[in-house]
Amino acid sequence: MAPEEPLVLGIESTAHTFGVGLATPSRILASVDYSYQPRAGGIHPREAAEHHSRVAGRALAEALAEAGVGVGDVDAVAVALGPGMGPCLRVGATLARYLAVRYSKPLVPVNHAVAHIEVARLTTGFRDPLVVYIAGGNTIITTFVEGRYRVFGETLDMPLGNCLDTFAREVGLGFPGTPRVEELAARGGRLLDLPYVVKGQDLQFSGLLTRALRLVREGERLEDVCYSLVETAYSMLVEVAERALALTGKREVTLTGGVARSRILCEKLERMAALHGAAFKPVEPRYAGDNGGMIAYTGALAYSAGVTIEVERSRVRPLWRLDQVDVPWRAGA
Ligand code: FE2
Repeated sequence: MAPEEPLVLGIESTAHTFGVGLATPSRILASVDYSYQPRAGGIHPREAAEHHSRVAGRALAEALAEAGVGVGDVDAVAVALGPGMGPCLRVGATLARYLAVRYSKPLVPVNHAVAHIEVARLTTGFRDPLVVYIAGGNTIITTFVEGRYRVFGETLDMPLGNCLDTFAREVGLGFPGTPRVEELAARGGRLLDLPYVVKGQDLQFSGLLTRALRLVREGERLEDVCYSLVETAYSMLVEVAERALALTGKREVTLTGGVARSRILCEKLERMAALHGAAFKPVEPRYAGDNGGMIAYTGALAYSAGVTIEVERSRVRPLWRLDQVDVPWRAGA
């Protein structure tokens, strides 16, 4: 790292993953991430928070060891204050506040969604992409316009990742479900009629989920239902992304978030981008899911641009929207 570059420690705890990372504004030095696996059903916020409390000390020690530094060496402590589940967020925020006070370090607030975007920009090398952000808890099409990441389409009910995970769980495919649904989809081939719901630039997935589950109960081949579910859901998403691309005239498209590992979705977005003469690249798989590295990296960008928060004001923000965040580190863009 360049000698003048700040080193920032970052903490992620918005949902199922507790992670600690270390980064500068140009690279991620370490990211140690532990994920809570629900025993049954979806994420139970209190159980996830208990998991985070158990692994927090270990993740911190391992991340520092991986980067070869001590807490005293960092210039600031960053933490994802939202959006996410309150009990989970409070574990990360509590540790971050403690470290900031104990070691007299500035505290840097990071929006989790912004971090998914920034780590995609870092690992793709794209400067100004249209961003498709798909995860268990989010479905957002966004890009940078006039100082903020503006939303050019989002889900009105459940996130796409949650739709696929819930479907997988209900039909006994386990968690996380998206890779398993895609495996079965590859063996299907009959496109069944499912609700394709695009309203303006926004999307709805709950009707799709209900209908897909009903088709399974009615005896349709699971492979065909998976194929139809994936084709319908991803096509809805690509349609919205395509309009956003045409509207904003961006030359690059990236996919970030837990579902960025989806080969099928990557292929669809790549084809769509090519039609518009734009390049496509997904976030590096290592940083697709939630991780401490992306919080540290975004924290380093923010800290370099003068973003800090007083410990007394650093409350968690479970509903903190992406487009409420000023992005001063891209001021010259
Ligand atoms: Fe996430």
